[in-house]
Amino acid sequence: MTRTVTVDPEHPDPDVIGEAAEVIRRGGLVAFPTETVYGLGANALDADAVRRIFEAKGRPSTDPLIVHIAHVGQLAQVASHVPPAARKLALAFWAGPLTLIVPKKPVIPDVVTAGLPSVAVRVPAHRVARALMEAAGVPVAAPSANRFSRPSPTRAAHVIDDLGGRIDLVLDGGPTPIGVESTIVDCTVTPPVLRRPGGITREQLLAHVPDLVVEQGLGEADAAQPAPGQLLRHYAPRARVTLYEGLPEAVVARVSRDARQLAGQGSRVGILAPEEEVMALAPAIAALASSGRVMARAFGPRSNPDQAARLLFDTMRALDAEGPDVMLAIGVGPEAIGAAIHDRLRRAAEGRVIRV
Ligand code: TXA
Ligand code: MG
Repeated sequence: MTRTVTVDPEHPDPDVIGEAAEVIRRGGLVAFPTETVYGLGANALDADAVRRIFEAKGRPSTDPLIVHIAHVGQLAQVASHVPPAARKLALAFWAGPLTLIVPKKPVIPDVVTAGLPSVAVRVPAHRVARALMEAAGVPVAAPSANRFSRPSPTRAAHVIDDLGGRIDLVLDGGPTPIGVESTIVDCTVTPPVLRRPGGITREQLLAHVPDLVVEQGLGEADAAQPAPGQLLRHYAPRARVTLYEGLPEAVVARVSRDARQLAGQGSRVGILAPEEEVMALAPAIAALASSGRVMARAFGPRSNPDQAARLLFDTMRALDAEGPDVMLAIGVGPEAIGAAIHDRLRRAAEGRVIRV
């Protein structure tokens, strides 16, 4: 059975946190809010507990987990060596949505890192997450708290939909403020490499590590993966997603045409797009929308990418729940957190990208 307990995101009740910490120490699984998405936590030093994470999520054991610590001082407990770039980035961005890959200490079981000699570490900024790490007194291994390959959870209800009955406890601290996962930087190589765009932007990183390498075509292909687990299929709803890229007017025209054509062939069509595009599409799809064959949902304004990021996964799940066969997705610009939005949409689309 899974229990859900509500916690104040700013001032979590110490008794509730104490109870959750006890579940972690005893080898159980606790879902908790972070500033990015909900995580599914277990004691990172307990291989059996960590195995339960993989079982609950249906996650392949080749996909390594992020270890969450309460403060930068704990880094030496999990890292055998802290490269200079990792030190710089940790000082600049922790606590916050940045994960650093560093060489691991033997105390971290192989199941956490999928056998890799490195470990991904972060100090979350969310008060519930930090209070939990502190009370548990152990590093906490936590992937996003969704079933494998489903969109990441930004609300407790998403966690319960995916993992209800499979985990011990859910701390419901309300919607997560950033909405996309942490940025991942590999600091085991020189210069360091950006492996996943996320809550800390590339521009922010470059200000501290000017020689940072940004991988070509992040999220583009499955081939030549530098690490296991960077699978393309990720963040995917049930509907088959196609991502449209290009100038907004051209994209709107093409999506409108494709939506009408697909609906004409009998498909139920979902459109996932920024507010501006949904508004521009409205006249062209009005008749199909009122007959229920096309449904459009906006995940926030293009003019406010932070809000768009916050609403992305929630909107994707809500649209998916309406039962479309196909989902036509439009992202926002590549600036700032827009890069993370774009990366997640590309992964959801599993490479089905139409450039217009
Ligand atoms: O914001 C986040 O990072 C959230 C919250 C809960 O902290 N966590 C999260 O975890 O997104 P997850 O498991 O969904 O994504 C972790 C990613 C995986 O793609 C994995 O391949 C990569 O981190 N990773 C973990 N350890 C690694 C390592 N040693 N080397 C390379 N990649 C690693
Ligand atoms: Mg995940």
